Amino acid sequence: MFQPDLLAGKRVLITGGGTGLGRSMAEHLLELGAEIAICGRRENVLAETAEALAEKTGGKIQPYGCDIREADAVEAMMDKIFSDRPLDGLINNAAGNILSKSETLSPRAVDAVVNIVLKGSANCTLACGRRWLEAKQSGTVLSVTTTYAWTGSAFVLPSAMAKAGVLAMTQSLAVEWGGRGIRLNAIAPGPFPTKGAWDRLVPTPEIAEAFETRNPLRRPGDHRELTNLVAFLMADGSSYVNGDVITIDGGEWLKGAGQFSFLQEHMTDDLWAAMRQAARKAG
Ligand code: HXC
Ligand code: NAP
Repeated sequence: MFQPDLLAGKRVLITGGGTGLGRSMAEHLLELGAEIAICGRRENVLAETAEALAEKTGGKIQPYGCDIREADAVEAMMDKIFSDRPLDGLINNAAGNILSKSETLSPRAVDAVVNIVLKGSANCTLACGRRWLEAKQSGTVLSVTTTYAWTGSAFVLPSAMAKAGVLAMTQSLAVEWGGRGIRLNAIAPGPFPTKGAWDRLVPTPEIAEAFETRNPLRRPGDHRELTNLVAFLMADGSSYVNGDVITIDGGEWLKGAGQFSFLQEHMTDDLWAAMRQAARKAG
């Protein structure tokens, strides 16, 4: 889909790049010539990913143990990264989530998710942005949100609140920093199975099946489909896209929004024919 050297010379930090979608993004961006930094809390996971992807792609990838909830730790990581060579891009991918009835959430549970998703993304974005502005250098930030950032969703309240905040950050800074060479966008994925998300958010195999197939395409997303979009948005060719959120969910949220769309699961050919007859009779 892309020139093999699409991202040659670019240096990108992917938070939460040791697992799941972040790891898939790291692999694809390495294949396209980018140099990658990944961070997360579990250093053993990061080291294993970095080693495996370096061997698979032949690219340059550096792991950084960092808890993005801690602004000081983020600053220290950015100092280390930028002292070697400045980043060109940041992908705010790290997240935490809890499936729970909202009335049972403790204050610590709300903090646990909001601090990773909202505060962590702000810590990383501001740390990068300050350095880019200071050096009068351009940069690109891509944040991974969800479609429930604007629809809301039952049972994932702290995540919905935090992802909505990340979207607001994206839109705010796209305007504030756009004229100074920094652009910010977001993507909103539908179901892309990962161990991290499915172990925590999908209670049974039956629910997994429903979760993955209730979109108009009746299948989950393939990681490559998502990383293609990420590569496009991180590349210079998309330089006029700023402050937007691109949905990549097979049409899942729109299907939920359309008043009659649920009929897909209920209508048969006989019922469609009967409705046509009824309309004729009604004149
Ligand atoms: C209710 C819960 C809970 C649950 C934890 N808590 N899990 N409450 N239901 N399922 C409560 C705990 O009891 C505790 O409160 C508080 O939350 C903090 O828990 P800790 O385990 O100490 O937190 P911490 O170690 O900081 O872990 C954070 C975490 C964890 C968010 C809870 O799940 C995590 O580390 N996640 C990272 C990876 C992740 O979540 N990946 C999925 C992203 S997927 P008390 O009061 O008891 O002390 C995603 C996809 C969205 O976002 C869309 C999918 C399609
Ligand atoms: P995942 O594998 O659990 O990824 C989450 C990553 O975040 C982990 O690598 C984790 O590493 C890291 N992380 C969590 N807390 C951190 C912290 N405090 N500091 C640094 N890193 C931290 O889940 P995923 O499915 O790939 O999710 C990736 C992104 O996609 C998330 O933003 C998620 O909301 C979004 N998303 C996913 C789906 C889906 O279908 N999978 C759908 C919509 C949106 P450590 O635990 O080692 O820190």
